[in-house]
Amino acid sequence: MTDHHPVTVIGLGAMGREIARVLLEAGHPTTVWNRNLERAVDLVSQGATRADTVVAAVGASPLVLVCVLDYAATRELLEPIAADLAGRTVVQLTTGTPKQARELAEWAAGHGIDYVDSGMMATPPMIGRPGSTFLYSGDEAAFERYRPALDLLGTSRWFGADAGLASLYDLALLSGMYTMFAGFLHGAAMVGTAGVSAADFAESAGDWLRAMTVSLPYAATFVDSGDYTTDVQDVEFNKSALDVIVQASIDQGVAPDLVAPIHELLARQLAEGHGKEAFDRIIESIRPAVTRPA
Ligand SMILES: NC(=O)c1ccc[n+]([C@@H]2O[C@H](COP(=O)([O-])OP(=O)(O)OC[C@H]3O[C@@H](n4cnc5c(N)ncnc54)[C@H](OP(=O)(O)O)[C@@H]3O)[C@@H](O)[C@H]2O)c1
Repeated sequence: MTDHHPVTVIGLGAMGREIARVLLEAGHPTTVWNRNLERAVDLVSQGATRADTVVAAVGASPLVLVCVLDYAATRELLEPIAADLAGRTVVQLTTGTPKQARELAEWAAGHGIDYVDSGMMATPPMIGRPGSTFLYSGDEAAFERYRPALDLLGTSRWFGADAGLASLYDLALLSGMYTMFAGFLHGAAMVGTAGVSAADFAESAGDWLRAMTVSLPYAATFVDSGDYTTDVQDVEFNKSALDVIVQASIDQGVAPDLVAPIHELLARQLAEGHGKEAFDRIIESIRPAVTRPA
């Protein structure tokens, strides 16, 4: 479907508003609904149609994008109007767990609703701009049918029929992001004890972290093979580096809470006799046994 078919956006928070604006600017007749109807005012002045009820909103378009706080809010909104959604496509943009996505997909299938789940790898100002990526999984035919409209929001990546996969991948990427920011904050607290501003530290931290990302595929070879044989920087070496980091943090009056879990995982691997194996072996302390390579 390449024409400018109608689209409905439910939820006009920071993300939903930008999503509606991008669709509107691309020429899609866009109907919007938000619990607090005031939030639709700007979009209406830009040409959107404001629906007064969720039923009226979904009735206006074959494609319904939902972007509210959480899955509980989504279910609260959609469950009472299942019959009105039958035959339409719901794309759930709201962040949730893979289990919540799969359960909602099952509910949708039971009511004749085509369901696609999404993880939005973007912040509001990024929507519709380079760098914005939207992850999708679920009903592939529905995804392909509406892909031209979805592509307006960012680069679309398809993960397959399991509705939970887009969310799983989204949360995995966010885990990497949160631990990276936490690591930056720990470093900023350390250099802050010497009067260095976080702004100064951000420059060196950015250069260092960017350089380190080059090693990710190398780390992945250990994880995928389950073979942690290495002759450089093994668990013992890294445990000793973390001993120093933790001690230096304490000496400087910085609580080691953010680096302590890595220290603890390395100590565990060492105690289990893996001192001569690669750092990446700490994943064996956290991943389910069934996912270990044979
Ligand atoms: N912001 C980001 O950078 C970002 C990035 C990726 C993913 N996300 C995800 O995208 C979703 C929306 O985020 P956001 O930043 O747009 O959040 P937001 O600005 O806080 O907006 C939340 C939206 O949810 C609505 N809502 C909350 N509870 C509701 C309920 N019980 N019934 C109906 N509507 C309800 C709010 O309506 P009212 O206006 O009436 O309160 C509002 O439209 C979240 O799941 C978030 O995790 C956000």
